[in-house]
Amino acid sequence: MAFLESKRIKSVASALRAAIGQRATERASIEPVPRSQRIDGKVCLVTGANSGLGKAVAIDLAERGGVVLMACRGGHPEAGEEVKRRSSSEAVRMLKVDLADLSSIHRLCDELRSTTPRIDIAVLNAGLMPRRASRSKQGFELMFAVHFLANRVLVDRLLEDGLLNPSDGAGETPRIILVSSETHRNAEPIDFGRLGAFANYPFKDGLKHYGQSKLAQCTFAQTLSRRLNPEPEVRIAVHALCPGPINSNIAHEAPMLLKPLLSPVMKVSFLDPAKAALPVTYLCCAKVAGERTGLYLHMMREKAPAPEASDPQNGAKLWSESEALMRPFAPDPS
Ligand SMILES: NC(=O)c1ccc[n+]([C@@H]2O[C@H](COP(=O)([O-])OP(=O)(O)OC[C@H]3O[C@@H](n4cnc5c(N)ncnc54)[C@H](OP(=O)(O)O)[C@@H]3O)[C@@H](O)[C@H]2O)c1
Repeated sequence: MAFLESKRIKSVASALRAAIGQRATERASIEPVPRSQRIDGKVCLVTGANSGLGKAVAIDLAERGGVVLMACRGGHPEAGEEVKRRSSSEAVRMLKVDLADLSSIHRLCDELRSTTPRIDIAVLNAGLMPRRASRSKQGFELMFAVHFLANRVLVDRLLEDGLLNPSDGAGETPRIILVSSETHRNAEPIDFGRLGAFANYPFKDGLKHYGQSKLAQCTFAQTLSRRLNPEPEVRIAVHALCPGPINSNIAHEAPMLLKPLLSPVMKVSFLDPAKAALPVTYLCCAKVAGERTGLYLHMMREKAPAPEASDPQNGAKLWSESEALMRPFAPDPS
C-alpha cells in the first residue's frame, strides 16, 4: 500500500514538474486580443463553462458582446449567474449536457436546433482527469469519450443541423476551438485495435491515458480542419491549443493524500484561468485566426502539433473508426 502511494506521488510530482517547466520556458509570440475588440451578437457555445478555463472564456466572450451558451454538466444555475454578473451581460444562457453520455449530447443538439439560429464560435473545452479508470455511459474509456468522442458527435450534429455554416467568403468564418494539451506530444500512438475501449489502468497511469485522449482530440482537430477547408479557402476555421498549467478544478479527484501537495503548488505556480484564457480568446476573436485554419497554440505561441496528430492517414483512420463507434448511438432519424 505504501509502495502504491509512493508511486502515485512520484507520478503526480513529475507531472507537476513538467507543468511548471512548461510555464517557465514558453515565451509568448502572440499578442492578446485587446479588450476593446468586440464580437457583438456572435453566438458562442462553450462546453465545461461552469469552472476553470471554460468559465473564464465565457466571461471574456460575454464582455466582448458575444451571446454565450454555456453547455455544462454542473453549476446550474449559479455559474450562469456568475458569468452574467462578472461580464455585465445578460446574453448568457446555461444548457445542460453530460458529455460522457452520447444521448445527452444529442438532446443538447436537439435543444440547440430548436432555439439557436447558428453558432459562430464553438469552444470545446470540457475535460477531466478522473481519479481512477472509468467508463462513459456507453462504456468507452471516460477521457476518450469526453475529450474526443463527445466533440466528434457534437460537431457532426452542429454541421448536420446547419448551426455551423461554412462561410461563402462574404460573411465571417465560424470557428471551432478545441482545448487540448501538450501531453498529446508524448502519448503512445492511437491504438486502433482498441479505439475508445475501457482499460482498467492504475492511478499512476492516469496521465498517460489523459495524453492518449488528447492525442485523439488533436488528431481530430487537424482532420476536421482539412475536411472542412478545401485549400486555399477557409470556410470554418478549426484550431486547437494547450492553455498551459491552470489553477483550476482539474485535479479535484486527486487522492486526499496528494491534495496538500497539489493545492499550494497549483495556486502559486499555475496560471490564473483568466490568463490561461488568452490563447482561447485569441483563436475566438483575432481576425487572423478566422482567416487561417489548423492552428495549434501552446499558451501564446504557435507550434506544430505532434506529427502523429497532423498525419492525414492517421486522421482519416480515426475519422472512419470513430464513425463506427458513434453510429449505434445516433438517434432514430424519425
Ligand atoms: N488545468 C490544467 O492544468 C490544464 C492543462 C492543459 C489542458 N487543460 C484542459 O483545459 C480544459 C479545461 O480544464 P480546466 O483546467 O478548466 O478544469 P476544470 O476547472 O475541472 O473544468 C473542466 C470542465 O469540464 C467539465 N466536464 C468534465 N466532464 C464533463 C462531462 N462529462 N460533461 C460535461 N462537462 C464536463 C467540468 O464540469 P463539472 O464541473 O460538472 O465537472 C468543468 O466545467 C480541459 O480540456 C483540460 O484538459 C487543463
